[in-house]
Amino acid sequence: MSRLAAKITGVAGYVPPRLLTNADLEKMVDTTDEWIMERVGIRERHLADKGVAASDLAVEAVKKLVAAHPFDLQTVDLIVVGTVTPDMMYPSTACLVQHKLGIANTWGFDVSAGCSGFLYALNAGVKFVESGQYKKVLVIGSDVNSSMTDYTDRAVCIIFGDGAGAVLLEPAGEGEDGIIDQVAQIEGVGGQFLYMPGGGSLNPASHATVDQKMHYIHQDGKNVFKYAVKKMAEMTERVLAKNGLTGKDVDCFIAHQANRRIITATAERLGMPLDKVIINIEQYGNTTAGTIPLAMQTALEEKKLKKGDIVLIAAVGAGFTSGATLLRWAY
Ligand code: UT7
Repeated sequence: MSRLAAKITGVAGYVPPRLLTNADLEKMVDTTDEWIMERVGIRERHLADKGVAASDLAVEAVKKLVAAHPFDLQTVDLIVVGTVTPDMMYPSTACLVQHKLGIANTWGFDVSAGCSGFLYALNAGVKFVESGQYKKVLVIGSDVNSSMTDYTDRAVCIIFGDGAGAVLLEPAGEGEDGIIDQVAQIEGVGGQFLYMPGGGSLNPASHATVDQKMHYIHQDGKNVFKYAVKKMAEMTERVLAKNGLTGKDVDCFIAHQANRRIITATAERLGMPLDKVIINIEQYGNTTAGTIPLAMQTALEEKKLKKGDIVLIAAVGAGFTSGATLLRWAY
């Protein structure tokens, strides 16, 4: 019997309306539009208003998904949410999304993998479809990075934005291949370079943790950058080689949007022309778990993604976490 494959049958992204431009940031910290564009490639990011949380962005993304690819939400039997900015420590964002959407009979959980959050949530969802146990899986990436960004730290606040995206996973038909393969790896030695030290069981929230700015993103950008460039190349090459392919076989490369230079360095290493590479960091910044579904939406809007295309997805993030997924676009 042939393997049961999972395929993506719809995607939608959502960003909150409020904009934070480089011109705004020039008034807040010692930076320039020129520096940000040249070193990172971001012009503007979208920020959630106070009181708008990761589950709210996720719900909006799912509503857009249903509008674009109509299906009965009540048939969803699994919700997997990648996020590092859950509404609360618990309940899970998956539970909050389930409740807000009123999906009566489903299962779900959150995945914490930093900027690889969507990719890891996708990996999990795919396995549940491939096992035959679940047939309609919502995979969501949602982050409200502004909730943990220090807007006096110029090396961090210029990078991050808020956003979410959702895909629907369903079993592929006989002979269809959908998600082809995935590789992923964690290397905890990288935890020291990108983390939020406050608010967990190690440093529960207190006046002292707030005074010491422990509830903000702590990032050693240089080390994260070096690792990301090396690891994204390694993971993409690994998944391609495992399947007897090279960068030349890829029709569309959708990478986590952390820094334009990380994406173009990977594409160059794989020998991929830039017209096959999706880059929307200029508009959205780094939305952590939101970037990949938002970039899938951009790829569709820009007509760079069509049925039958070989698509390569990759991410590297806090943890360190990394991964690459190879798939055939199904619609
Ligand atoms: O998805 C995972 C999340 N994070 C990432 O992927 C981040 C990966 N890292 C990066 O993207 C880059 O390392 C940054 C964008 C964070 C920084 O860019 P860089 O080219 O690595 O800059 P740098 O840290 O080497 O700093 C170079 C200079 C420094 O000044 P000095 O010491 O040379 O005088 C910084 O203080 O640039 C300065 N700098 C800035 N200047 C203007 C740092 N941030 C800014 C800024 N505006 N916003």
